[in-house]
Amino acid sequence: MESRATPSAIIRQPSPPPKAAPAPQAAFDLAQAKTTFENTCNGCHALSNVDSSPPESEAEARALVARMVDNGLSADARTLQQIVGYLARTYGK
Ligand code: HEC
Repeated sequence: MESRATPSAIIRQPSPPPKAAPAPQAAFDLAQAKTTFENTCNGCHALSNVDSSPPESEAEARALVARMVDNGLSADARTLQQIVGYLARTYGK
């Protein structure tokens, strides 16, 4: 078996995909985001508040989370973004 890659073997390899912009959608970890949501959003009221009036889009999720920040929720931007992603994917369409 030839272990060294010959030029023709190299040229047969599929070329790597063009440098794509990072895809946050694909990297989104829903299970992790759910945990973050559960740990972050249960401080003031039951999580079931969300089931009573779920956000129906990412824009609504964003507005809801922003309102909770106004209500006194304190979390870093990454955490908030993760929760918006979780809500949008779970309740949005
Ligand atoms: C600092 C306290 C606090 C935290 C933390 C908090 N909330 Fe709230 N939440 C409130 C208060 C106060 C209300 C009632 C006033 C209002 O609706 O803005 C409320 C109401 C809600 C409602 C009902 C809104 C409606 O339209 O009926 C939802 C849904 C909700 N919160 C979701 C969340 C989510 C999601 C998180 C985590 C990102 C969160 N909350 C974290 C204080 C908090």
